[in-house]
Formats: sequence, structure tokens, C-alpha cells
Amino acid sequence: MTHGRIALLGGGNMGRALIGGLLRSGTRAERVSIGEHVAEARSALAQELGITATADNAQAVAGAAIVVLAVKPQDARRVLLPLAAVLRTARPLLISICAGTRVESLQEWTGGALPVVRAMPNRPALLGAGVTGMYAPPAVSVAQRSAAEQVMQAVGEVVWVPDEDLVDVVTAVSGSGPAYFFLLAQLMAEAGEGLGLERQAAQRLAAATLYGAGLMAHVPGADLSRLRAEVTSPSGTTEAAVRVLEAGDLRGTIARALAAATARGRELAMLRPDPDPAGT
Ligand SMILES: NC(=O)c1ccc[n+]([C@@H]2O[C@H](COP(=O)([O-])OP(=O)(O)OC[C@H]3O[C@@H](n4cnc5c(N)ncnc54)[C@H](OP(=O)(O)O)[C@@H]3O)[C@@H](O)[C@H]2O)c1
Repeated sequence: MTHGRIALLGGGNMGRALIGGLLRSGTRAERVSIGEHVAEARSALAQELGITATADNAQAVAGAAIVVLAVKPQDARRVLLPLAAVLRTARPLLISICAGTRVESLQEWTGGALPVVRAMPNRPALLGAGVTGMYAPPAVSVAQRSAAEQVMQAVGEVVWVPDEDLVDVVTAVSGSGPAYFFLLAQLMAEAGEGLGLERQAAQRLAAATLYGAGLMAHVPGADLSRLRAEVTSPSGTTEAAVRVLEAGDLRGTIARALAAATARGRELAMLRPDPDPAGT
């Protein structure tokens, strides 16, 4: 990883997770600076991670080789515009985790000419078990891509996509993905209860199955269809269930669900109100 300093703008949920991950993976605390305007969030950073954050974003990014933008998407423009002059001079690598905020906008708000990488982590990143979909335009160098990858690996795995539009598909698959698995486990628990299990037992069975299946699927090189086949004996119980799922068009339902999530992500990005209609 680059030996320069890393600055985070926004020390909320994801910012804290990233800093925690960076510290755990060996980044020294003095190499990290944070700009966070909420006093309680700054206290939480000091208490949980022993990091001093500042309310002055310009101070946070001064001298940083990498700046991670971790504020809410609707705050991105307001946070970046006042920093444009300092960023244009220092030209750090900007990694934005803001959902639906395009490279073109980020470059415009930072005065142009800044290498920008988009990263879309998911909620398990808060436990260091996330997966981040990443996109870099061609102008970003191999070394900068590698530096961005190492930052995001602090909270889990990284998968690159070759086209910025695919970041919305990443959001549909892995960004929203934990909710699909929670829903499936919830429905399994409810069905188990309907078949006679105690509620708590049904929930533990479903949740622990989700966890165990996740561990098996996470083994490097794991083939999801083979894993499924291995627990589906011919004419057995699993096959009986899978046949019902297929007959109910689970495949088509999932395809439609992910298409809807992708479309909604694009819609939300277009609908986001401009926080500064004067265009300054
Ligand atoms: N959480 C997830 O699971 C997840 C997953 C994928 C991507 N993301 C992306 O990650 C980004 C951060 O999400 P989050 O969940 O960490 O949000 P969050 O908890 O709200 O954290 C953002 C922090 O930045 C602060 N902030 C706002 N304006 C600021 C400014 N001018 N200067 C300094 N700090 C400022 C916020 O303060 P206020 O509370 O006052 O606004 C808040 O403390 C979002 O863009 C989101 O799209 C999140």
C-alpha cells in the first residue's frame, strides 16, 4: 500500500468500519486522518479506535495521498466543493463509496484532473466481512487501482467491474444482497414454525444455516452450483424442496428482483436533489 497518509471524509458507520479495518490490517493510526463534522461521531472515533478526528475537512485532507469520501451521497458535493482548490493542487487518489455518485460529478466537484475510483461496499463490511465492487476509469493507474483495492480490502473482498454502469448491478447483487438472504432465512424460519418448530428454534436453525452455508460458499474457488448439487441427493428431501422452488419460478423472481434494484439505483441517482441549486 502507498506509504502516504489516508484521509477519510465522514466518520459514520462505513468510515468507522474502514478505519477499524485499516488499523487491524497494520496501518498506523498516525497515517490516518478523519474529517467528521458531528461531535458525537468524533468522540466515538476517539473512544472506539483511539483516532482524533477534526471538524475541519481541509485539515483532514492536507498532505493525504488517498482521500476516501464516506459521507452520504447527498452531502458529497457540499463536502468536496470547498476542498477543490487544495485537492487540485495535491492530486490525491479519491475513493468514493457514495452510492449512485458518478465519477464525472466527483471530478467536477474536485476541480477536475483527480484520479477517482468508485467503491460500493456492503453492510457486512461493518464486521470486516464485506465485499466491495470497484470501478476505475482508464486514466487511473495500475498503482492507484492497487492502492484503492488495498484500502477496501480492509473491510473484506474486492471485485472490479469494467464499466461504471455495472456499479448499479453490484449494488443490486451485493449491496442489497444481505437483505435477500435475511428474507430467505426469515421465511424458512416461519415455514419451520408453521411445521411445528418452536419460534426460537426455527430462527436459530435458519440463521445458523445461513452462516454455515456462507462459510462453505466463501471457500476460494467454491462453485455455487456444485455446492448445491452436493447437498441435493437424487429423490431426497432437498430435491423435493428445490423442485417446488423451481416450479414457483425462483430463478425468474430473483432475476426480476435484481433488475428492479438496478433500475431503482439508477433512478435514485438521477432523482437526488441538488443540495446547492445555485450551482456554486
Ligand atoms: N452503510 C452501508 O451499509 C453502506 C453500504 C454501501 C455504501 N455506503 C455508502 O457509504 C457512505 C456513508 O454511509 P454511512 O452508512 O457510513 O453513513 P453515515 O453513518 O451517515 O456516515 C456519514 C458521516 O459523514 C458525516 N458528514 C456529513 N457531512 C459532513 C461534512 N461536511 N464533513 C464531515 N462529515 C460529514 C455525517 O454526519 P451527519 O449524520 O450529520 O450527516 C455522518 O457522520 C454513503 O455514501 C453510502 O452510500 C454505505
